[in-house]
Amino acid sequence: MPEKPLTATKEWKALARHYREIKDITLKELFGTDRDRAEKFTIDEGDICFDYSKNRITEVTMQLLRELAAAAGLPHEIERMFGGERINETEGRAVLHTALRNVKRTPVLLDGSDVMPSVFSMLEKMRSFSEKVRSGRWRGYTGKPVKNIVNIGIGGSDLGPCMATEALRYYSKRDLSFYFVSNVDDAHILEALQGLDPGETLFIVESKTFTTQETLTNAETAKKWLLGSLISEQAVPFHFVAVSTNEDAVTRFGIDPENMFGFWDWVGGRYSLTSAIGLPVMISIGYEAFMSLLAGFNDIDNHFRHAPLEKNIPAVMGLLGVWYNNFFNAETHAILPYSQYLCRLPAYLEQADMESNGKGVDRSGARVSYQTGPIIWGEAGTNGQHAFYQLLHQGTKLIPADFIGFARPLRSAGDHHRKLMANLFAQTEALAFGKSATDLITEGVPRRLIPYRLCAGNRPTNTIMAEQLTPHTLGKLIAMYEHKIFTQGIIWDIYSFDQWGVELGKELAKKILPELDPLFSADLKHDGSTNNLIRYYRSKQ
Ligand code: F6P
Repeated sequence: MPEKPLTATKEWKALARHYREIKDITLKELFGTDRDRAEKFTIDEGDICFDYSKNRITEVTMQLLRELAAAAGLPHEIERMFGGERINETEGRAVLHTALRNVKRTPVLLDGSDVMPSVFSMLEKMRSFSEKVRSGRWRGYTGKPVKNIVNIGIGGSDLGPCMATEALRYYSKRDLSFYFVSNVDDAHILEALQGLDPGETLFIVESKTFTTQETLTNAETAKKWLLGSLISEQAVPFHFVAVSTNEDAVTRFGIDPENMFGFWDWVGGRYSLTSAIGLPVMISIGYEAFMSLLAGFNDIDNHFRHAPLEKNIPAVMGLLGVWYNNFFNAETHAILPYSQYLCRLPAYLEQADMESNGKGVDRSGARVSYQTGPIIWGEAGTNGQHAFYQLLHQGTKLIPADFIGFARPLRSAGDHHRKLMANLFAQTEALAFGKSATDLITEGVPRRLIPYRLCAGNRPTNTIMAEQLTPHTLGKLIAMYEHKIFTQGIIWDIYSFDQWGVELGKELAKKILPELDPLFSADLKHDGSTNNLIRYYRSKQ
């Protein structure tokens, strides 16, 4: 833990000075004065090519950022995480999601005992179950094979499997249909179940705690729906399995513990995709492909642990984020995957990043005096181009962005992919170099329109390329972001693995729920606005 507040360190002050020196230098100038810039600021890791040359940085910037990381003890903190120390201090837990994809099974010790045998025995259980479902050997209560898989979960118990199932749809077993129900809004579950045959439907109830209101409400509704048609309670074990750490609650719900897939308190919800929470993904793509996803994660885990900071992709991503967040005062960071398969990646990373680093207190419990986690948002390209890119190009805000693309498509219907990638490359070029008044005049644009048509450029982007979207590449990509988030949490000296901020809203919702009953007669004791809104709601029932 640092001895001084972050902003008082010599490394921070050096960056602040450096910022003043280079803040007005443009990307055009930086590229113009260094022919090797693109090579210098690109890191290749296997099939991943990470080009960060279109950032407002010099070699000095990166050196100073690395010094900041070193002063924050990043390499030491990485070892503490991988070594099973209880770095999730406020929950008293280790943070060992990296053990879940430790495909070589090297021992990972937690309090002196190796967690790898239990990790692999759970993978075997998932394998056996997923093969039964995929082959049609798993039968519903009326003897039919499963056709529909409905995942019920929320947050980390939804976003990861939902994002990855969509991302890897190309590799999926096409005669299975997947639905992800998360919102407690009746519409979500009712619309998902519309037209499904209960006899062919398998529910996977995913909840680390098995206490989450939304998930339990949806699971109860699913049970009623099933029993409405299959009548007997005995049907439940044929149609419900659970993924959780809470066996008692799973059993109370009526799910056979034999059909429960467990994981451990050292796996955070938003880092749980590679635990049994990935069960729908394994059912969709099969065991071998799932193992390849894990191997991709593992490659980046090893890279993050062992590569020197200057060649370490997640560390560099994290440092660049700090540079914009804390020195350029950028408030948001856009995730722009040029792949329809990755359409859920921005939502997944919203939780991964903002639930981790949306903290305002440092590890000593003091209020921070600097900005921490950015707002993460985004959309799959090219849709975003016809929606919000106007603001990226000409708005008053600086929005660093990650562009993600693939050299070859998984499916081809002509020249779509070439057009898709032409757009990706064009956008990063336009953002970086813009269009000057001189260019516009040369093109014959009337002078009065020049201010409106000018694109100042100098907008920073990273470009992450891979050959093709495979399970292995997806694993690498997600792990890059996980460790980027870790890097930033260490620099900002915050606890990235708890999420106490979500509790207050849950508590209040519990209190308000009975007050929404039109027959509730006691005095409302909220503020005037909340009281009025509750009364309005009741008056319309
Ligand atoms: O929103 C808070 C949270 O605890 C997330 O961290 C978590 O991913 C989600 O709720 C779901 O929790 P559970 O898996 O316990 O249902």
